[in-house]
Amino acid sequence: MPTPTLILGQTLTFTGNPFLEGIGAAHVDPQGALLIEGGRIRATGTAATLRKAHPSARIVDYGQALVMPGFVDAHVHYPQTGIIASWGKRLIDWLNTYTFPEEARFSDPAYATEIAGRYLDLVLANGTTTVASYCTIHPESVDALFTAAETRGMRVIAGKTCMDRDTAPPSLRDTAQSAYDHSKALIERWHQKGRALYAITPRFSPTSTPEQLQALGSLWAEHPSCAIQTHLSEQTDEIAWVKSLYPEARDYLDTYEQHGLLGSGALYGHAIHLEPREITRMAETGAGVVHCPTSNTFIGSGLCDVAGLIEQGIPVGLATDTGGGSSFSMLRTMASAYEVGQLRGRPLHPAELLWLATEGSAATLRLSGTIGRLAPGAEADLAVINLASTPAIAQRANRAEDIWEAIFPTLMMGDDRAIRATWVNGLEIGKAP
Ligand code: GUN
Ligand code: ZN
Repeated sequence: MPTPTLILGQTLTFTGNPFLEGIGAAHVDPQGALLIEGGRIRATGTAATLRKAHPSARIVDYGQALVMPGFVDAHVHYPQTGIIASWGKRLIDWLNTYTFPEEARFSDPAYATEIAGRYLDLVLANGTTTVASYCTIHPESVDALFTAAETRGMRVIAGKTCMDRDTAPPSLRDTAQSAYDHSKALIERWHQKGRALYAITPRFSPTSTPEQLQALGSLWAEHPSCAIQTHLSEQTDEIAWVKSLYPEARDYLDTYEQHGLLGSGALYGHAIHLEPREITRMAETGAGVVHCPTSNTFIGSGLCDVAGLIEQGIPVGLATDTGGGSSFSMLRTMASAYEVGQLRGRPLHPAELLWLATEGSAATLRLSGTIGRLAPGAEADLAVINLASTPAIAQRANRAEDIWEAIFPTLMMGDDRAIRATWVNGLEIGKAP
């Protein structure tokens, strides 16, 4: 057993969801501590208590820095790393102009390996320790990401993107049968191996036939511990397109529901322009929405009603949606979520933003208590945030009258320079154990 490590700093914990229970459900202990051993958090408490109880532990003292769970980015496309920040297109043109040509390059496993490693290093530098990622149509793109995650000790959720309609380019098409077969083989190879979890991944209804959605719904029924991930109601043009392709469906969500792709563990990215029935059904079934604010503003999609969805009983997580989103940083993503909230007349509190980026995302992935939480038994994935990382942030934080005022400038203006350390599976990245 390695020596237990005692991490000291300002520790962030939640006793409930601050959207539902108020800001009092979030706690920052100015002199907190975590005991880490064997990749897990073994104890939490005050520095004084844990020092006394564990006098031989190795001490890592982060002083005034915020010690929190590593960020959980619940919707990303790692293959879009190379085309992030591509100019001037809305969703369907953006996919055809930038995304699909780039994803076609992943037929080369060497390219997939290069981008998977680059992507995970970028997110770790931003304090993100778990991502739920789409790969490309190529099974090798899934192997590349899970292999890169394994090398880094990361808990990653991922799956082969499935597209079998002529709305996708020929080089990126599979079939209902090959999508089923390849996804099944990948589940057998990767799901629950080490920290890997598989997500069955129909890209979205416009690029799948009903037969493919049905095949993937059957696969989910056979492997219910997998997640499923897809897109829902991101842009109004897309919704009209879905209506024309699935004329008998009651709404966009119904295209998934009819094929066995609705339930707890289903992750719907965006979910902006929802019908009342869709909200009711997601709440009834426990399906999750993943809010992607930088993407929704960058691609011009709209303003998701995050607080309203949570109040109606839907689990909601937060995500960068790289590369539709314009940043790898969950700090930048929280800033964008705040701005979207302002434009809807409901500014999100820093405690709510931090909850979305940790507990909220973990809950949509059915990983509550495993990641995204500082508590005994949770996996020791941590982000340590310097709350005065630039002169601009420091001068604002210096005026703070409480901890939330001290944190908020970093959420709004922070970037990778604010990440003092990232811990994965009980080890600080870049440091010898
Ligand atoms: N809808 C279908 N595919 C995508 C994608 O790659 N990015 C975004 N933002 N929306 C999508
Ligand atoms: Zn997406």
